[in-house]
Amino acid sequence: MDPACPEPEAIGQAAQIIRRGGLVAFPTETVYGLGADALNPLAVGRIFQAKGRPADNPVIVHIAGAEDLEAVAARVPEQAWRLAYSFWPGPLTLVLPRARRVPEVTTGGLKTVAVRVPAHPVALALILASGCPIAAPSANRSGRASPTSAAHVMEDLAGRVEMVLDGGPCPVGVESTVLDLTEDPPILLRPGAVPQEALEATIGEIRTLQRHQDAAKRSPGARYRHYAPRARLLLVGPGEAESLASRLLREGQKIGVIAQRHLSLESPKLVARVMPQGLAEYAHILFATLRDMDAAGCDVIVAEAVATKGLGQAIMDRLRRASSPSAGADNS
Ligand code: TXA
Ligand code: MG
Repeated sequence: MDPACPEPEAIGQAAQIIRRGGLVAFPTETVYGLGADALNPLAVGRIFQAKGRPADNPVIVHIAGAEDLEAVAARVPEQAWRLAYSFWPGPLTLVLPRARRVPEVTTGGLKTVAVRVPAHPVALALILASGCPIAAPSANRSGRASPTSAAHVMEDLAGRVEMVLDGGPCPVGVESTVLDLTEDPPILLRPGAVPQEALEATIGEIRTLQRHQDAAKRSPGARYRHYAPRARLLLVGPGEAESLASRLLREGQKIGVIAQRHLSLESPKLVARVMPQGLAEYAHILFATLRDMDAAGCDVIVAEAVATKGLGQAIMDRLRRASSPSAGADNS
């Protein structure tokens, strides 16, 4: 069997851990999740402990199919069914009124619940074998980029999670799009793997929250710094990385550069990563690249902006958050 595909016995064992109230990290098509029984408040509480996540930042509930939506949501509007039909299984998370059986700890005390059906065979097999919806945030520790491989999960959570299901690298590499359907028009709370344009083609107008304050009010996760490398990240315009990097190199700093072009600079203190032109390929390696640059001991990462069309919106959101100077602790 493919080494990147866990044996059926491993899934059975993982499901037992979930049913007993334990934590299992598992692959999804976006990033690895840190999973627990979404209906068991003690189990979900362990997720918050393991991550060091503030209690008011709710987690996404993963179900095996749209037919389970009414088990976790009190009301399912017509738009939700249409989106589910078009994008599930897949990287779209819908915020809906919470069903009472979903404990408050899962929803961070909110009256809404965030739900998605992951498009990864291991994630789906785990949900089905566990027989319950699985609450799972990204399986990273505070202050780290979301994990896109089992090795990343181990770097962050070894000793804090009972089992890691290794499904190889996550195909997409950035998190799901989070859409609040309790408002009219719906609100994009987090740009992600499903582009806003694709959602609008299905349900019409979607509102985006421009002001950070608005975003923080509606989406608790937006209050905290996410996706943060240890190095300071400077976001510059296309073509601007080279001159800034050469100046910083002259100051003696170790510099990482993330740009979609080759640099003519060379230095033992330079870690340059030429990112793919295709945004899907770019997103696939973004978080691993940030982790590599941290591991290489970069003091500063200089990243060039990409156009905010399609997946570019999610990529720029992650780069902006990683560069945000106003950040407190990351707890996503
Ligand atoms: O791709 C993904 O979404 C991954 C995989 C594992 O599914 N999960 C993930 O979870 O990125 P997390 O917890 O790292 O990010 C979830 C985001 C947070 O910003 C959280 O605040 C927001 O979704 N969220 C969760 N429930 C919410 C709710 N009821 N209302 C508003 N925002 C919510
Ligand atoms: Mg996260």
